[in-house]
This record gives sequence, C-alpha cells and structure tokens, in this order.
Amino acid sequence: MQIEISGSSALQTKCDALILGRCQEEPFDEVLNELDRLLEGGLSRLPEQELKGTRYSITSLTPMGQLPARRIVLVGLGARQEIDAHTLLQATAVGVRELKGKGYATLATNLHTLRAKPEDARPVVEGALMALFETSTYQKEPISNPEALILTDSDAKKIGSLVEQGQKVGEAVNLARSLVNEPANRLTPTALAEHAQQVAQRAGLNLLVLDEDEMFKLGMGCLLAVARGSQERAKLIVLSHRPNLEAPFQLGLVGKGITFDTGGISLKPRDGLERLKGDMAGAAAVIAAMQAIGQLKLPLNVIGVAPAVENMPDGNAYRPGDVLYAMNGKTVEIISTDAEGRLILADALTYTAQQGAERIVDVATLTGAVGIALGPYAIGAMTNNAELLQQVREAGEQVGERIWELPLWEEYKNLIKSSIADLKNAAGSPTAGSIVGGVFLREFVEGKPWVHLDIAATASVGDHQPGLAQGPSGVPVRTLVRLAERMRG
Ligand code: BES
Ligand code: ZN
Ligand code: ZN
Repeated sequence: MQIEISGSSALQTKCDALILGRCQEEPFDEVLNELDRLLEGGLSRLPEQELKGTRYSITSLTPMGQLPARRIVLVGLGARQEIDAHTLLQATAVGVRELKGKGYATLATNLHTLRAKPEDARPVVEGALMALFETSTYQKEPISNPEALILTDSDAKKIGSLVEQGQKVGEAVNLARSLVNEPANRLTPTALAEHAQQVAQRAGLNLLVLDEDEMFKLGMGCLLAVARGSQERAKLIVLSHRPNLEAPFQLGLVGKGITFDTGGISLKPRDGLERLKGDMAGAAAVIAAMQAIGQLKLPLNVIGVAPAVENMPDGNAYRPGDVLYAMNGKTVEIISTDAEGRLILADALTYTAQQGAERIVDVATLTGAVGIALGPYAIGAMTNNAELLQQVREAGEQVGERIWELPLWEEYKNLIKSSIADLKNAAGSPTAGSIVGGVFLREFVEGKPWVHLDIAATASVGDHQPGLAQGPSGVPVRTLVRLAERMRG
C-alpha cells in the first residue's frame, strides 16, 4: 500500500473511504461537528450507543455525495488520557480492517481526529500496514487490498520521515508474519536461508549461510543433533548490518528457527501439531528486524543469527539419554528431544558471542509454559543483566509489546543438573518450564549481557489485537527495531 501525505482538510480529502477517530465521553470535535452539518444531522441522529467512542468500536456512515468519501468509519479511541502510540496503531488497524476487501481503493485518515501528534504518524502507518496482512496466501481469490492511504495533517511537512519509517517497520512486521504463515513443506531451513538472501539484498545487509559441514567444524554438536532426524539440511543464517567496520557488533539478535517441531523421538501429541510450523517465529522476527534495521540505516552494528532446523523423528534421530557436545565445550544430556529450541540456540548464542556481539537478545517460541505463566498478553523475559532487560522492556513498552521478567535465581540451576553430563536439556518434571529454558540458555552466552524472550504465547494474534487477522502476530519485530534505535550512536 502506498502512503501519501496531504495537508488537505480531513473531510475534503479525495478518497473512497475515510477513517476518523472518536473519543469516549466527549462532545463532537470540530471535524465531527462539520461532518454532522454536511450530513444534515446524519451523525447526531444516531443512537447514543453508536457514538460512545468505546475503544476500537466501529460506526459506519454512508454519505450521499456531501463529501468525496463514499464511506466513513468512526473508530472509538477510548478515554482521551489513555490514548498512546499503541492505541493509535490498533485503532488505525481496526479502521483499515473494517474497509479492506470491500473495493475501496483509496483510504484516508487524519492525525488530528485520531488525537495523534505528528510523531505518532509512525504507529498509525504501522497499524495500517499490519491490518492489510492476510493469511489466505494459498486461496484462489486473494483479498484485494486498498492501494493507497492518504494521511492528512496540518503539519504534513513534518511527518514525511516518520511515515517512511512506519512503512519500513510495518513491512518488516508483515514479512515476519508471512514467513511464520508459510507451511513447513515450503519453508524448509534451506528456503528460510533463501528468504534471508532476499532480505539481505533489499536492505543492504551482509549474508552468510553456514551449512552442516561448516557447523561441524565449529563444533556445533547440539544444533546438529536436532537436525539428524530430518531429511532437510540445517542452516545457520547470519545477517549483518555493519555501518562501522572498525567497531564490534553492539547488538546480536538470535532467533529460534525450528521450521517444524514434531518433538522428535519425544513425539508431541497429534492435536494442534499443525501450529508447530510456526516454531520459527523467533528466526522470522530476527530476520525481519534486520531488514528494518538495514533499511532504516541505523548507525550501529547489529548481527542477526537464525539457526534453521527441522525437528523430526526417524532412525537417525537423536534420542533421550544421548549426550551432546555444545560448541562451547559443555556436555548436555538429552532428557527430551522436544526441548530442541534451547539446543539450537545454545550453539547459535555461543557463535554470536564469539562473533563479538557486545549484547545479545534471543527470541524463541521456547516453552508452552510461558503461556501458563503470562497468558497471551506478555512476552516472558529472562536475563543475566538487569540494565539490558530494562532497555528491552522500555523498547517494548514504547511499541505496545509487553515484556515481563521471570527470575533466573541460582537455585533454578539445580533443575538442569545432570548425573552424567554438565547439564541436561530439560528438568524432567513440569516445574518452572520457561525458567528452566532460560537457565539453560544462560550457560551459552559467554558471560555477555543477554536477554531471552520467550514468545511461545505471543507469536500468534490474540483477542486483544482486534485490528489484526488471526494468525502470526509479528511479535517482537517492533521491539527489536526500537531497541536498536535506542542503542544507536
Ligand atoms: N516449540 C515448543 C514450544 C511450543 C509449544 C511453542 C506449543 C508453541 C506452541 C518447544 O520446542 C517445546 O516443545 N517445549 C517443551 C519443553 C519441554 C519438553 C521441556 C514444552 O513447552 O512442553
Ligand atoms: Zn519442542
Ligand atoms: Zn520447539
């Protein structure tokens, strides 16, 4: 979708459909008063319930030629004092979603009626783009999306670069969602590496893809063990954005890329197994965030690493009881072959640390338990460095992706003590499932400041995101981009 900026007044904008904001429990603002006048009372005549402005509610109007728009959608913004950047993103998404697929080619909205300041142009554009994403890729008649959104504001000149940023970030979020939506028969580790190649080209990044021989030489015994039961060869995807060749990577992003998780020999039950095509949502978020970081030309060095592996059971598969050598020399006893994410991340984290990343953030659909702890409303975070976590949390706060810490106290290490190896990959009892994952990963970051984000429960769109199609959420692409922006310089 093309985004155009215009200084024209909200109601006179030439468009097919117009999205306006409506605050809760407030009299009509001047735009709504003018609209009511043009419609000869057609607005004020509506029952009170239609005009309440409850957050994300929709009231649809059909003007009869009194203004250019053929359809007007009033989106409820809720109470004025609670409107933040995230409310605006969601509200715009709700409005666009109401209008998409109905034949309206050009949409328009106005920042002022959304109660948005000029600096909120970015989340408004992000929301509009995110609303357009559809999961119906493989259906005969794909939904026809609007072609353009006109953003009107009296400060039109000021918002140009914000709109551009919003476009890049919104597209990155949708890239992550489309990768997660791809089925595992099409999105193999090799195919994911090919997508990364396109991303690198688009965003001016450097791409390195390690194959199994190269990973073997580096000693990545944990990652390679997970790959053994699959016909698909594992890949380590490494994207780098390095505007300053003299400086080290200030930030390393690592994403779990299990293209399908059967559980391996510790086979998962059959119900809902189709959802496990999305077990590469962490890798998708990292690859997509790297695209935005490159396109925004952020002035810091970032390395993005995505181990891509399929977890299948066959005669060659790794087993419970096996002992593996990780790249950092630690030995790992396998308790469950379904705790495979932490194994591929272990070697990818060591690799990233050894590439010189000064701080590391990993993103993974690691444990079902994180949804038991926090539900679909927050990402579970674990860290060895309170300051870095604070940065990540604030970045998340700014973009409306909530992040909540789970502790990694020393006692939790007892849960991964093995009698035969240095560590075991699972506790073997359903105790502190997400924390056990974090405590395990901490052993592989070479002491670098690190944050682990468990997105198993937030990688899909929840009931609190009314403007988005059900399916992959693109979490936490916007947090990662914002984090890199905060670290710049
Ligand atoms: N990929 C799963 C976690 C998951 C489950 C994500 C369902 C999304 C939906 C992960 O590899 C896994 O299987 N974790 C186990 C860990 C256990 C074996 C220690 C889990 O959560 O049960
Ligand atoms: Zn698993
Ligand atoms: Zn998994």
